[in-house]
Amino acid sequence: MRLALREGVRGTGRVAPNPLVGCVIVDRQHRFLSSGYHAQLGGDHAEAAALRNLGDASKVTGSHVYVTLEPCAHQGRTPSCAKTLAQLKPESVTYAVEDPNPLVAGKGAEILRAAGVTVYRLDERTDLSAEVRGELLDAAEDLAEVFLHNLRTAEPFVAVKVASTLDGQMAFKSGESKWITGEAARLHAHSIRARYDAVVVGSNTVVIDNPSLDIRHPDFVGIENRVIVFDPQGRILPTLARKNLLKVRAAEKIIIIVAQGTKIENPCGATVVEAAINSGQFDLKQVLATVKNIGVTSLMVEGGAGTIGAFFTAGKVQRLHLYQAPVVFGGQHALAWSSAFGVTDLAGKFRFARWSWQRVGDDLYWTGLR
Ligand SMILES: NC(=O)c1ccc[n+]([C@@H]2O[C@H](COP(=O)([O-])OP(=O)(O)OC[C@H]3O[C@@H](n4cnc5c(N)ncnc54)[C@H](OP(=O)(O)O)[C@@H]3O)[C@@H](O)[C@H]2O)c1
Repeated sequence: MRLALREGVRGTGRVAPNPLVGCVIVDRQHRFLSSGYHAQLGGDHAEAAALRNLGDASKVTGSHVYVTLEPCAHQGRTPSCAKTLAQLKPESVTYAVEDPNPLVAGKGAEILRAAGVTVYRLDERTDLSAEVRGELLDAAEDLAEVFLHNLRTAEPFVAVKVASTLDGQMAFKSGESKWITGEAARLHAHSIRARYDAVVVGSNTVVIDNPSLDIRHPDFVGIENRVIVFDPQGRILPTLARKNLLKVRAAEKIIIIVAQGTKIENPCGATVVEAAINSGQFDLKQVLATVKNIGVTSLMVEGGAGTIGAFFTAGKVQRLHLYQAPVVFGGQHALAWSSAFGVTDLAGKFRFARWSWQRVGDDLYWTGLR
């Protein structure tokens, strides 16, 4: 299952709205036979890829299959994996996460059982310690988190990414913020960006930083993301032609959220979406529903502080990616990434779960779930 999880990650950036899924097939003696992953929307599912890599399908009889998500029961863009496996008669199939898609939920497992295959949900594998089961289940949920969140809540998955100092500052009030973290952390952040359909920024970040917000990483060449700018008055639209956002992507991939009824000029042909605004704040529920309707299943909010604060305060953040450099700016002239949170007491604190960290170059990369 650990290897299947590693395989699944390889589809990052290429499968939305489908889940990232990995699969491993081992023989009767649990020796490795084959592995595969869902590499592209419309392409083979992980199980089909593992079968293709195996070559001789007759070897599946009596084998053990490990897959990070329940095999699909239905014919979609590709045939049903549960039916394909059922015909090939492996000895057992172990999957980590049940697929909440009503077309699948438990039905993939039923098809296999009906064909005489022993089926385990990973939490039924009592031959593993509870600790190992928990670790693998968490990792499998994390792998499919965008897909699972979309199905469970009908909203896009929201992550926040911040580059900060040790004391939580993300810029100086003068606007200076380049660069807080080192080159290795910035490259790593591009690989994280590739996980999400779109990057969200506020209008100030576009005006001050003129960022490109594209994916510049050797593992993700050719993946073009969308950008969403929170710009109630449409103030960046007249000058969009000169912005780096437009140099690296087509205008329709730039989605500008403006306040309902705002008179705008849109000379470049960006995608403009109107949203209700109350006391200067967009109705985020409405914004999320609207961008989901135009095919955005996941967002990474990259700033600045005003935009990040709005998402946290509205309870719309699922994951935080935090890069922390070993430097301190102090509070007098700097802008903290949490400056718009408005927490008044301990009870109101934002707490994260299932967190992990690693060193990237000279910086710390920390991620956790809200
Ligand atoms: N270190 C990092 O990771 C990082 C990342 C990004 C940015 N930054 C820095 O952060 C600074 C900018 O931060 P900031 O807080 O001033 O600005 P910001 O978040 O980039 O933009 C704030 C503006 O965006 C619009 N906006 C954002 N959320 C909104 C919402 N929920 N509803 C309605 N409008 C919304 C409003 O536009 P209007 O004013 O037009 O109404 C608001 O004034 C820059 O210096 C930049 O360099 C740092």
